[in-house]
Formats: sequence, structure tokens, C-alpha cells
Amino acid sequence: MHRIHTVAAYAATVLLLSLLLILSSCTSTEPRLISAAPIAKVAHRGGSLLAPENTLAAFQRGIDEGADAIELDVHLSADGRLIVMHDPSLFRTTAHEGYIGDWIALDLQSLDARASYRGDAAYPVEHVPTLEQVLALVERQERSVALQVEIKTDQKGRRYEGIEEAVVNALRLHGLIEETIIISFDFPTLLRVREIEPSLKLGALVNRAYLESIGMGGPAAVAASIADLGVEYVAINYAYLSQRLFDEFRSRGLLIGAWTVNNEKDIRRIAAMGVDFITSDRPDLLSELLD
Ligand code: G3P
Ligand code: CA
Repeated sequence: MHRIHTVAAYAATVLLLSLLLILSSCTSTEPRLISAAPIAKVAHRGGSLLAPENTLAAFQRGIDEGADAIELDVHLSADGRLIVMHDPSLFRTTAHEGYIGDWIALDLQSLDARASYRGDAAYPVEHVPTLEQVLALVERQERSVALQVEIKTDQKGRRYEGIEEAVVNALRLHGLIEETIIISFDFPTLLRVREIEPSLKLGALVNRAYLESIGMGGPAAVAASIADLGVEYVAINYAYLSQRLFDEFRSRGLLIGAWTVNNEKDIRRIAAMGVDFITSDRPDLLSELLD
């Protein structure tokens, strides 16, 4: 009698568990995008598929599309001003010959930065902005907007003399130290920023060249070399972010971002890993998928 009861109870439990399993598989559709912590949405160059990259129009558009942060690139002009542009060369985005470091800021600011823009929306002339102008735009917003300021090197890969001090001073002037992460592929630049302003958060950028330079060491060696810098963030080209590398970064306490993720499938895959931020040229798509 006792044995019959036990078998019946076992069968009932199996039936109940099977039912629960079927029910849960029916209700789940796409993988959940929002993990325990929210994923910050970062508008790459303001959102360069929606507006001319690294312009005031792009940054406002990225903010209007709901980005938590805007990402921008800075160089130093011949007269020591911070210029927001991706390439050290003027050609791709302004159709002018020459390099940022050879021009004075006033002349650079007169250039139209729409030459590389291929998006649908029409924009009137969009001048090359200074970092000061972008920070003023961020200050004017009704909500708090974070910044990822990428400090670039010149056309020969050399650090611009004094660029780190200039960036820190500008951020201090606008009271935006806390809202900002300084990012760079050039790690000595990051270490210099830390010397000047230890409270600034830093992010090491990782691309294919860096991964190749670490050679055969694999994910553990890559993660160890980034963690040794003492930075808070690592931001990697999403094409190289494997689960194994993600886990190695996390095990060393790093916060993780991925760039530049522009389509739904990849945004879903990267978000499901549990990254801390995603950088995209489509801040509208980030809002659609992550909010
Ligand atoms: O946010 C990182 C990403 O901007 C790095 O690549 O070439 O677009 O500056 P790049
Ligand atoms: Ca950048």
C-alpha cells in the first residue's frame, strides 16, 4: 500500500513539472534583454546613421532618441583647442585636405561636417564642434546625460601634447567629471588622465589589433592585461566578445561595453550576455530593444 502511494506521488510530481516546463516554454519568446542591471545605451558619435557624426545635431538627436550617454572623439587643434571629430584627417567628414593638428580651431569650426553622412534625414550645414560646445549642449538638457569622451591620437599615432589636461579642465569647468568616462585605444593616455584627475572613470578600448598583440595568451591573458591597467571599464569591438572573454573580464571586476552594434540580432546577443553598455550608431534601435 505504502509503495503504491509513493509511486503515485512520484508520477504526480513528474506530471506537474512537465506541465510547468511546457507552460514556461510557451510564454517565453525572445531572450530577455534586460538583465538584473540596466544596460546603458550609448549613441556612437551621437548616432552616425541618424545624423552627421560628431556634430551638435547628432548629439541632440542621440539624446532625443533616449540615449543614456553620447560617445564622441576628440583631437587637439594647432592652437590647443579640443576638436570633436573621428579621424585626424579632415577629408572623410568635411571633404577638405589636411589634418586637425595643422589647423586653428576657428577655421575648423567653419567647416561643414556632413561629407560622410548618408542617412535619410536632411540636415542643414553642421559645423565641426569643439568639446566646449558639446559639453554646453549636454548641460542644457533637461535630464542627465552621460559622456564617453574618446581621446584620439594624431595621424601618426602620436599623443597630442597636453590633450589630457585640456579634456579634464573642460569637464571640470562644466561640472561633468562624474558623468564622464574617458575612453581610448591609447592606454598611456588613460594613465595620464588618472594622474591628473583620479576620480575620472576610465575605459580601455579593445580592437582586433590589440587582441592580436596579446598573441596566443587567449581570453585570460587579454583580461589580465586590461585589469592590470587599473581601469574600471573595458569596451570591445562586439565581433570579438565571446562568452569566455566576457567571463574573464567579469572575473577581474571589469565593467564591460561593446561597440559598435547596429542591428537587432547583434544587439540582442550582446545584451543577453549582460554587458554594462552598448554603443550604437542607432540609438533609436537601442531604445526600441532595451527599454
Ligand atoms: O566607443 C568606442 C568606439 O568609438 C571606438 O571606435 O573607431 O568608432 O572611435 P571608433
Ligand atoms: Ca570613438
